Amino acid sequence: MSNTNRSIEPLFQTFANEKIKLSNRTVMAPMTRGFSPEGVPGEDVAAYYRRRAENGVGLIVTEGTGINHPASVSGASIPVFYGEDSLNGWANVVKQVHKAGGKIVPQLWHVGMTREKGDLPNQEALPVGPSGLSLDGEKVTEPMTEKEVVELVEAYAQAAADAKRLGFDGIEIHGAHGYLIDQFFWEKTNQRKDRYGGDLVGRTQFAVEVIEACRREVGPDFPIIFRFSQWKMNDFKAKLAETPDELERFLQPLVEEGVDIFHCSTRRFWEPEFEGSDLNLAGWTKKLTGKPVISVGSVGLDGEFTSFSGANTTSLDGLIKKLDKEEFDLVAIGRSLLMDPEWVKKVYEGRANDLLSFNKEALQKLY
Ligand SMILES: Cc1cc2nc3c(=O)[nH]c(=O)nc-3n(C[C@H](O)[C@H](O)[C@H](O)COP(=O)(O)O)c2cc1C
Repeated sequence: MSNTNRSIEPLFQTFANEKIKLSNRTVMAPMTRGFSPEGVPGEDVAAYYRRRAENGVGLIVTEGTGINHPASVSGASIPVFYGEDSLNGWANVVKQVHKAGGKIVPQLWHVGMTREKGDLPNQEALPVGPSGLSLDGEKVTEPMTEKEVVELVEAYAQAAADAKRLGFDGIEIHGAHGYLIDQFFWEKTNQRKDRYGGDLVGRTQFAVEVIEACRREVGPDFPIIFRFSQWKMNDFKAKLAETPDELERFLQPLVEEGVDIFHCSTRRFWEPEFEGSDLNLAGWTKKLTGKPVISVGSVGLDGEFTSFSGANTTSLDGLIKKLDKEEFDLVAIGRSLLMDPEWVKKVYEGRANDLLSFNKEALQKLY
């Protein structure tokens, strides 16, 4: 790729820590697509990711993919990360992305109580969660037993081991948006009195054990990215941490277990997280932990996340300024990259007028 636009240079610096080297600061945000019949990602899925790698994306985070548990996903065409066929499919995805010079990590996912009773692919499997409560706080099933919790921790660990075996460049653990791990974090959905519940730090215990078990499987040198958010799918105003001090107490146990990079999910990257500072959630996380962070949320778009109808492209100046100030290290791009596989390349080449505006038809096809 050749660069004719110097103002976007901060986005195209290399990134390196002791575990991973990336050719630039762009990350493809994880986006569920639902194009994997029976949970198996096929050639079209591999080509979809390869296309982004070919066009210069620094790191691809795959769509959420279900760990080995009957209720980990909702939907027959959501990819899973267990079973020979699915893992072979993922091995092909890795191969194609690497052939194109890209890097890729799978996002390991369990939807917890957001699953509806009767959902495919295993209609008989009941949703599971820390207290059996939906995101609205309604009782749906019994709280998970300690034995079930431990089994789930091991399912994450197995997926991490498989990711390494298949040649992925790391893993991302999905701890955001009100899914299983976040249901443990959130007071509203975690009312347990045992060691997995209690105060904010107690509610990190499940994530702590997941990270610990994944680390045990992959060894010290394999990157572990952890994605978290304040907002939940059903409540954009929800907060796990009301103050920087609370955020620090929340993050510390995760840092101690060896998270390498935090992926701080917000819907608009430019919004300050707490009063009195311009720092966003990623900025605060970097400041409090000293770890590299990924920021995300409406990059290059004028329509906030959840606007699936459409969003026009906008200037990257504000983003570049924050990146240049090292408020965050990496930038994840969602809908822009879903719409336009050449987004990174076009930005690099200064072809702003060629960027495709996001529209909802793009969700219906895998290109
Ligand atoms: C179609 C779609 C599917 C998504 N699926 C996931 C997912 O599987 N895991 C996840 O952590 N976030 C998911 N997200 C959220 C994105 O990763 C990202 O945080 C969000 O779209 C904001 O970035 P954007 O404004 O650049 O699109 C999804 C977003 C979209 C648009």
